[in-house]
Amino acid sequence: MSTNVSRRTAMRLAAGGLAALPLTSACSGLSRSGGPNTTTESSAGAVLRSRARLPEPFTLPLTVPGVARPSSSDSTTDYYDIVQRESEVEILPGLRTRVWGYEGRFPGPTIVSRRGRRTVVRHRNNLPVPTVVHLHGGRTPPEHDGYPTDLVQPGARRDYVYPLDQPAATLWYHDHRMDFTGPQVYRGLAGFHLVRDDEEERLRLPNGERDIPLLITDRAFAEDGSFDYPARDPSLRGEPGVTDEFASGVMGDCVLVNGVPWPLLEVEAVRYRFRLLNASNARRYRLALDPPPPGGTAFTQVGGDQGLLAAPVGHEALPMAQAERFDVVVDFSAYRPGQQITLVNTLGEGGTRHVMRFVVTRRVRDDSRVPRTLVEIEPLSRSQVRVERDFVFARGGAEHHGMTLWTVNGKAFDPWRIDADPALGSVELWRIRAQNVPHPVHVHLAPFQVLGGGTTTSGWKDTVDLDNGGQAEILLRFDGYRGRYVFHCHNLEHEDMMMMANFEVH
Ligand code: C2O
Ligand code: CU
Ligand code: CU
Repeated sequence: MSTNVSRRTAMRLAAGGLAALPLTSACSGLSRSGGPNTTTESSAGAVLRSRARLPEPFTLPLTVPGVARPSSSDSTTDYYDIVQRESEVEILPGLRTRVWGYEGRFPGPTIVSRRGRRTVVRHRNNLPVPTVVHLHGGRTPPEHDGYPTDLVQPGARRDYVYPLDQPAATLWYHDHRMDFTGPQVYRGLAGFHLVRDDEEERLRLPNGERDIPLLITDRAFAEDGSFDYPARDPSLRGEPGVTDEFASGVMGDCVLVNGVPWPLLEVEAVRYRFRLLNASNARRYRLALDPPPPGGTAFTQVGGDQGLLAAPVGHEALPMAQAERFDVVVDFSAYRPGQQITLVNTLGEGGTRHVMRFVVTRRVRDDSRVPRTLVEIEPLSRSQVRVERDFVFARGGAEHHGMTLWTVNGKAFDPWRIDADPALGSVELWRIRAQNVPHPVHVHLAPFQVLGGGTTTSGWKDTVDLDNGGQAEILLRFDGYRGRYVFHCHNLEHEDMMMMANFEVH
C-alpha cells in the first residue's frame, strides 16, 4: 500500500467517524434544546436526558438472555447461526424501542463454549449498515478477530471461527465497526459469550439458575421510546459544550441490566454468582450493596476479564470501567427473607445511582462453595520482559475539521500504521498513561497482568481502567497467533474518534 493511498484511506475513515453521530439520530434536537448536562460523574462524557417517561426503579423483573443453541455440532466444533437484525422491543412499559440486535435481541443470545472446542458463528447482517463482530477477550486468529475494517456488508454473511483454547471466562461479543462502534453498540449489538472448562466445574461455584450474567448499560430514550444518541450537527459546532461534551462520551440517565431498566430479581438466601459486565459506551460505575451484608463481604470476586483468579478477593465496592468483567459471588444468606438489597452505583446521581434490586425470598439449602484457592495462575515477571513500550492516551495531537481527536501517543488511528511489533510468544511491559479524562484501555489477543495502579483486581485481564492522570504498567503475553490486532480506549466515543492503534505479532 503506497503512502498516498494509505493516507487517503485514513482520511476517509476519519471523515466517517464524524458522520457517525448524525446517522443515528439526525433530527434529534436534543443537544441544542436541552444542552448536555456536563456532569461527568467520574466518567468522561456528558449525560443525555431521556424525554420518555422512565419506569419506577425496581418494578420490572430482570431477564436473563437465552443461551444460543448450536445449529449443528461435530466432534471438534459447535456451529451457531446469528442474524443481526432490527426489531422492536418493549424496554419502557407501553413504548416500543427499535433495537439493532443479534437475533434482534438486546442483549444478544449468550453463547456458551467449552474450552478447546471450536466455535464457529455464522453472522448474517440484515441491518442497513455494515457491521463487524469482535469477541472481546477471545484469543482469536486475526482474520476472525473483527478488525474494524473487516466489514460484513448489509445482506452478507460471514463465519467467525473461534478456537477458544483458553480458560473459562466471561467474554462478550459486540460490534466493532470502524468509526461507528459507539452508535452500533448503543443500539443493541452486544451479548455474552461464556467459556467453561473442567477446572471451573470442579470448584462447585454457584451454577445453573444461580450463575447469572448481568450486562450493565446506560441509555437515554427519546419521547417515542427510541434510543437517543446525540446528533453531531455541523451547525452546532462552535457552540461551547455541545459537540465537545458528547465527543468525550455519551451517557444515558437510565441504567439497564440485561436490557431492563433498574430491574428486580428475587433471590433465595444462598450464594449467587454474578458475571458483571460494564457494556456502557462511556459510563464508569462503582458498585456496592445497600445495605451491605451484616458482618460479611459484599462481593467475593472469583474472576476477572480473562477468567478465574488464583484466590477469591473480597470487595465492599467494585469500580468498573467500560468492558471490564467482575465475576463475583454474593451470599444472600447474610440477609433475612423479605429483605431488599439494592445494587447501587456510588458514582451516579439521581437515577444512575441505582442499578438493580434483589429481594430475598426464603432460606434453602446451598451446595455451592467458594474454595480458598481457585485456579493456578502463572505470574508474569519483569525478568521475562525483553521489550518495554510507552503509550499515552490523551486528547490532541491530531485534528479533523477543527475537531480535536482522541489519540494514542499523539496519533490518530491509521489502519496501515503498525504501532508495536511484539514477537510471538514474548512478554512485553507496556506503560500506559491516561490524560485529560479517564480512559479504559483494552488490548486484543494478549491477556495481561497489571503491575501497579489503575485496577483493584488480580489475575489475567484484557482491559485496564485508568483515571485521569493515571498510569499502569502491564505485562502482556503475546501468544497464539501472528498478525495485526488493535488496542484502544473502550470509551466507545473515544474509540470512534481515533483513540486506537495497531500491533502486529510477528
Ligand atoms: Cu470490546 Cu476492541 O473491543
Ligand atoms: Cu477485544
Ligand atoms: Cu478514552
